[in-house]
Amino acid sequence: MEKLSEWWRKLTWTFAPSSKVEATKAVTKNFILHWFPARVTYRSMSWSYSWWLGTVSFSLFLILTITGIILMFLYIPSVERAYWTIKDLQHAVSFGWFLRNMHRWAAHLMVFFVTLHMVRVFFTGAFKNGGNPDANRPVNWAVGMFLLVFTLLLSYTGYLLPWDQLALWAITIGANIAKSVPIMGNYLHFLLAGGTQIDQNTLIRFYALHVIVLPALLLVLVSYHMWRVRKDGGLAVSEQYKMQAKKEGKRLVPDDYTTFAIPALIRRAFLVFLISLGAVMLLSLISNAPLEEPADPSWTPNPAKAPWYFLWLQELLAITTIRTPWFTINGGFVGGVVIPGILFLWGLIVPFIDKSPDEATGVWFHPSRKLQNWTFGIIMLILAFLTIFAMYFRGPSWNIYWPWAWPPIPHLF
Ligand code: HEM
Repeated sequence: MEKLSEWWRKLTWTFAPSSKVEATKAVTKNFILHWFPARVTYRSMSWSYSWWLGTVSFSLFLILTITGIILMFLYIPSVERAYWTIKDLQHAVSFGWFLRNMHRWAAHLMVFFVTLHMVRVFFTGAFKNGGNPDANRPVNWAVGMFLLVFTLLLSYTGYLLPWDQLALWAITIGANIAKSVPIMGNYLHFLLAGGTQIDQNTLIRFYALHVIVLPALLLVLVSYHMWRVRKDGGLAVSEQYKMQAKKEGKRLVPDDYTTFAIPALIRRAFLVFLISLGAVMLLSLISNAPLEEPADPSWTPNPAKAPWYFLWLQELLAITTIRTPWFTINGGFVGGVVIPGILFLWGLIVPFIDKSPDEATGVWFHPSRKLQNWTFGIIMLILAFLTIFAMYFRGPSWNIYWPWAWPPIPHLF
């Protein structure tokens, strides 16, 4: 009987450490759990501080990796076969539609949640060190900027793979932005498309980027990102305890403000994963991933819209394209390259130029960071506005229409 309960305990993993040593060892001796710290502050575990958005992003990345590996057994990256393998997935392979839907939904959600995670980090001043000489959160923020770009590129390269009209024309828009870069434009376009046209060479390039290069880069960077969170002494909000104790002239007693990662942190992380998985499965049940007609380079849909997360860019490009009898502004370059480039560079250096006091570290909307928060908030609102405008108010020839006069393309996702 005792053996049975021991076996059940192991199976269900109802681990409750009986001592501090046991709790610490449980983390440090386990290959996967070693990723977590032995102890964690109460505040960094709270739902309302981080909303666990980083963990949601990571959960979605895991779901994408697993569903993506299974999809690789079924998909063929050839312009003659790609579309039909996706059709088979939708209609012939058992649960193929569900697998495809899960991959597609997780990809869109990951773009959305990684962006939300970045917004949360900014508004909580969580890229600050809070006077902790051992922390280097600005670097982790910069790493995050690259994670955001790689996440967008990963989603975008996957967009081409079904080789339908939606894919072909969304990629054509991207390739044309590359073409508008002065001097190097044609070369960049050639590099991206693997020739002068979007064809088999492009498909195989995007496929290699999508299944190997970008996931590998993301995996390496995400691992470093998480490791840095640990090295930096946990989430930025933890600095608040240290500052408070310092102010009161107290020696910090870890027990006062921390608990063991096992089971508290692990349990929450697992719950966040389950909720993310549940949401992806539910969405996949109720909404099918789009598949239009097979790609046809001779027939251009009008309007041809980029995927939703690049619509702001397409809109920016349109409004910065100015032609007058006296001068012309190349919107592809200004809106498609210069402005996003400036935004990215500003994003990279912003933690290094933020001179707000240490007390603003890990605090939502700290009053001393009003200027920073307004600037960032307005930039994000403009990008959201451009996205919504391009989605609902642009019709044929990129002219302005009311959404009821020219409804948004239903397959933008
Ligand atoms: C693939 C994308 C990403 C993943 C999987 C990821 C994952 C995580 C996780 C799990 C944490 C722990 C706290 C939390 O859950 O909120 C975290 C913290 C952090 N992330 Fe990310 N992240 C990603 C992208 C980004 C981006 C785009 C940025 C900013 C540009 C960023 C900046 C940070 C910073 C500065 C911290 C420390 C926050 C603090 O100390 O409170 N991350 N990330």
